[in-house]
Amino acid sequence: MCGGIAAYKAVEVCRGLVDAGAFVSPVMTRGATRFVGTVTFSALASEPVRITLWDEPEPIPHTRLGQSADLIVVVPATARLIGSYAAGISSDLLTATLLATRAPVLLCPAMHTEMWEHPAVVDNMARLRQRGVHVVEPVAGRLAGGDVGSGRLADPADIVAAAVAILSVPADLAGIEAPATPGPVAVPGDLAGVTALVTAGGTREPIDPVRYVGNRSSGKQGYAIAAELAARGARIILISTVELAVSRGIEIVRVETAAEMEAAVLARAGQAEVIVMAAAVADFRPKEIAPHKLKKGAGPPEVVLEPTPDILAGLGARRRPGQVLVGFAAETASGESAEGDLRSYAHQKLKTKGADLIVANDVAAPGVGFAHDTNAVLIVGADGYEAEIPLASKAEIATAVVDAIARTRHDRTRDMRPATNEEQP
Ligand code: PMT
Repeated sequence: MCGGIAAYKAVEVCRGLVDAGAFVSPVMTRGATRFVGTVTFSALASEPVRITLWDEPEPIPHTRLGQSADLIVVVPATARLIGSYAAGISSDLLTATLLATRAPVLLCPAMHTEMWEHPAVVDNMARLRQRGVHVVEPVAGRLAGGDVGSGRLADPADIVAAAVAILSVPADLAGIEAPATPGPVAVPGDLAGVTALVTAGGTREPIDPVRYVGNRSSGKQGYAIAAELAARGARIILISTVELAVSRGIEIVRVETAAEMEAAVLARAGQAEVIVMAAAVADFRPKEIAPHKLKKGAGPPEVVLEPTPDILAGLGARRRPGQVLVGFAAETASGESAEGDLRSYAHQKLKTKGADLIVANDVAAPGVGFAHDTNAVLIVGADGYEAEIPLASKAEIATAVVDAIARTRHDRTRDMRPATNEEQP
């Protein structure tokens, strides 16, 4: 634990790790002790808190801690800790332990938006990610002092889920060779071994060979979600009507119409543990497509529309066990009770589409929805989960959506575990 206001949430992470069966050796920086008392951690963890390299009965605590750890979780990771670790500087017991380990490391940054977005911190994080360090990204939300922005510590349950996932991913599943001798294990993130299918962009329903009925979706939100899932270790199948830059390894299937998207999705849905329908699929299409360009001289054509298949509802009706199904809801909920409307629309869609999560956006609000680089969403879950993300970049929205997916998967795994006596009320 480092010294940041989010240190109080490390208490919950510590408890979650112990509940999950981990032996937790707590290490605090001096700064952390200004935010949370050592007694709290000593009581909750598996052994007493350590703070310093000195004054300990054992002469070199960092090597014992580093060598015996299966995983080191830093929560919250401050800009100072991230900088020291990236530069290989050991100035206290925590940084010395980080340098004295070959175990995987999971960083959970938390700081103010300005600090999180500072080029020095961005560079240090990139360097650490390259070295195989795992990261549970901070989320957007309320920060210390009442500010709102990205940099808020992720949900403690998501941090525990990520730690459990790192410890339980076999090397072959994660697509890496198991090291012959203990060494730095570059296991990918909390969704390693998961296949995710994502749709992006707006469908185009032809009227004639040159004209179509379409919408304003740019595909940016869907691509951002695909990128976030990939960064966290998932294998991605991206079914898209548009072509944007993607990271290597993402399989792209190009489609144009709702019917093509439906065929592409249904052909691959059986492989996917996670499906995110971010695409803006047309609800109606021209009943007939003119074989030749309609002539202006013939006067305005009468275009008769018919409904398209509802891909998401179809997936909801026949999904494979354990699959997490995420739909979007593009609403124009603006008005006096815009938030209330968006929430009730989102809950309606949860039911009608049979989804686990609905990500609702009020596309009439400034900077929200179609084509913008930003978005603002309300995420609701069939299990009662709710998260509201105020205006943020589409990448940040993607992080929140993927956090909600990871949480749903985690809860499902926990619910599927046989109850032990200790778990009985
Ligand atoms: O692409 P961007 O420019 O970045 O914009 C992002 C976005 C606004 C497109 C995105 O945030 C979004 O809201 N996507 C869903 C758009 C939409 O079609 O919403 P809907 O409320 O009409 O549909 C609800 C859900 O059903 C969606 O998950 C949609 O993919 C799905 N659907 C809809 C119709 C249909 N025939 N089949 C479907 O599967």
